Amino acid sequence: MDFLHALLLAAHLIGLSLLVGTFFVQMRAKSGFSFAILLTGASIQLVSGVALYGLAMAGDEEPNHMKLGIKGIIALVVFVAALVGFLRQRAIRAEKASLKAGGAVSVADVELPERRLKTLFHIAGGLAVLNLLIAVFWG
Ligand code: HEM
Repeated sequence: MDFLHALLLAAHLIGLSLLVGTFFVQMRAKSGFSFAILLTGASIQLVSGVALYGLAMAGDEEPNHMKLGIKGIIALVVFVAALVGFLRQRAIRAEKASLKAGGAVSVADVELPERRLKTLFHIAGGLAVLNLLIAVFWG
């Protein structure tokens, strides 16, 4: 049980690093957001978090259900924002590639649509930071 707990917590901290690290590295960027890394981090957080919750339920002390429920909802929003950003970015890039193949695209055209992904990137990254603060400051 101790080893499993340590393993899940390690995964939880790796997922956290992927989310928060990527967010801080790219928070001033206008394009080229690494949604694949955000998506990986968000998936790890959901799976390891729910497993840690399960372990806590099996233990002697009652876990803080309110705190974990709120963290769960926030983590779900992080996941959805990362997923939608990932899919939209892929569609934009596929469209750009086909336009380029036709020989009719300038650098401005290439960068402009990706700027619209910034909101999704900041929702995912910002809420991941919020979840970190909730985990640490809410007893
Ligand atoms: C973006 C998503 C998330 C972030 C950034 C995050 C962050 C953290 C951090 C920094 C810790 C270590 C501090 C502490 O022990 O209080 C932690 C622990 C924990 N998290 Fe999360 N978390 C996320 C998602 C979730 C989800 C979805 C759940 C489950 C509903 C969850 C359940 C837990 C549990 C049970 C612990 C305690 C681990 C222990 O027993 O020491 N987390 N989380």
